[in-house]
Amino acid sequence: MTTIGLIGAGHIGGQVARLAVASGYNVVISNSRGPETLQDLVKELGPKARAATSLEAAAAGDIVVVTVPLKNYRQVPVAPLVGKLVIDTNNYYPQRDGRIPELDNESTTTAELLQAHLPASKVVKAFNHIYAAELTTHGQPKGSANRRALVIAGNDTAAKTTVTNLLDQFGFDTVDAGPLSEGWRIQRDTPGYGPRRTAEELKGDLAAAKRYREM
Ligand SMILES: NC(=O)c1ccc[n+]([C@@H]2O[C@H](COP(=O)([O-])OP(=O)(O)OC[C@H]3O[C@@H](n4cnc5c(N)ncnc54)[C@H](OP(=O)(O)O)[C@@H]3O)[C@@H](O)[C@H]2O)c1
Repeated sequence: MTTIGLIGAGHIGGQVARLAVASGYNVVISNSRGPETLQDLVKELGPKARAATSLEAAAAGDIVVVTVPLKNYRQVPVAPLVGKLVIDTNNYYPQRDGRIPELDNESTTTAELLQAHLPASKVVKAFNHIYAAELTTHGQPKGSANRRALVIAGNDTAAKTTVTNLLDQFGFDTVDAGPLSEGWRIQRDTPGYGPRRTAEELKGDLAAAKRYREM
């Protein structure tokens, strides 16, 4: 039985936890304030869920989702995530996160920052371009006409296959943008960021994406 650990249990973390429990996974959720502040969500999620510290959630998860405001990514525990698949949902909003020069000049991507912080983990970008509420309302069974697709990016092929299977269970097709360095194609203000898109449409969006300096 796979356990999904969540570092961050806000809009996206809560929704991913709901999808995971509905798909039969155990979840361990965490936030910055402590497990006692997550009891309402644990109660809603039921017996497959428990709250813990982020250190414990990282240790317990076979797959761990990092879904915190980007400015806090360096607070994610490193040692318990060694060798693990880590899903990164984070986006860069300077008004929330402060200025990060290497993202402003696009010499790196948000997920590459997390990968640099977690050098021995397998980081896969996912869930960053869908509104949290839609995670539990837009999923459809495999093979549905016009099924919504979500983009992933990552440097580890096996990890991406695992995330593709997870997204399929959650109700979404997947489009692979390539390595983490290509994740900019689905960053804030790109065509695919936000709207409901099929796989074919998203492929077009990725191809049409422009760098911030070209906008
Ligand atoms: N909202 C969306 O629709 C959406 C869609 C796609 C991607 N995203 C991206 O996904 C990330 C999370 O977004 P969100 O909307 O879910 O944010 P949110 O609702 O503000 O939730 C953030 C969560 O992270 C926790 N957290 C903050 N610092 C932490 C730390 N150092 N260790 C452990 N947990 C920590 C917070 O805990 P406390 O409350 O205890 O501080 C909270 O549970 C962001 O980068 C965002 O840009 C959001």
